[in-house]
Amino acid sequence: MRHSTLRQLEVFEAIARLKSFTRAAEELFLTQPTASMQVKKLTDDIGLPLFEQIGKKIYLTDAGRELYQTCLGIFEHLARFEMIASDMKGLKAGKLRLAVVTTAKYFTPRLLGMFCQKYPGIEVALKVTNRERVLERLINNQDDLYILGLLPDGIDAVAEAFLDNPLIVLASVKHPLAYTKNISIKRISEEPFILREAGSGTRSATERFFAKHNLKLKVRMELGSNEAIKQAIIGGLGISVLSRHTLALDAPMGQLISLDVQGFPINRLWYYAYPSGKQLSIVAQAFIGYLQQAPHFLVDVSCHHAVVGCCPLLQSVENKELPD
Ligand code: PGA
Repeated sequence: MRHSTLRQLEVFEAIARLKSFTRAAEELFLTQPTASMQVKKLTDDIGLPLFEQIGKKIYLTDAGRELYQTCLGIFEHLARFEMIASDMKGLKAGKLRLAVVTTAKYFTPRLLGMFCQKYPGIEVALKVTNRERVLERLINNQDDLYILGLLPDGIDAVAEAFLDNPLIVLASVKHPLAYTKNISIKRISEEPFILREAGSGTRSATERFFAKHNLKLKVRMELGSNEAIKQAIIGGLGISVLSRHTLALDAPMGQLISLDVQGFPINRLWYYAYPSGKQLSIVAQAFIGYLQQAPHFLVDVSCHHAVVGCCPLLQSVENKELPD
């Protein structure tokens, strides 16, 4: 194996973990043929097959399983060394690997911007994906820190809430209910709905809310992006429940309205989290300090660029958050 490279092991590890060449290539920003080529070279060097394909699924062979365990050990040692080295340099250098849920992209880059201005030598890797994938990454200890909604039970991690995440009902300003006060939950459930993709935290909180009231949504469309949902709402395709954070930055001014629906906003919170027992680097600890000051840094995030029907900001927490 002397000719095998760290990169090949990295590609192999991602495929073995995700059980998919496509997802591994996506995660590592490679094309699929490049990922396959790296694994082929590794397989040739070892002289034993590492994967077998049965139907559409791929499985590890015995040799593959052994190599996967070896890779985990190698990467853990390297990460520990990287951390020791950067801690030796203090905050002058080092790396911060963050994985955040899709909706957290509305504020995380701004906090990172401030952080990087103060510590220009620090390299940041930010992975933005949906809740399900972020949880997967946390369980596999792939990053330094995670930002997401409330953790489900049974995950052994440290998690601290640091910011409000109110979910509101968004509609086009031209919607017939746009200026109606105190709309009932039943009435809103009769409207065509645009939902985020399966695996999204926003989606599961929305579904849970309506299920709690024994109501089923009339789903017209599923979209994997908050931005696409806002455009679909403006296009008159339906209404949706999204985080108020999605209105920060470049919200399509004046074309969206937050409907005044009973029980809303759903008061979710943002948490930072990391696996229990993980030793945080100095860089990660310093960034946590920034997260704890987020409500102060991001005063305008929760302000609404959309026309706001009657939804008061950050009402008292009446919908106690339940884990997904
Ligand atoms: P999402 O997560 O971006 O995957 O919907 C947001 C949340 O958990 O509130």
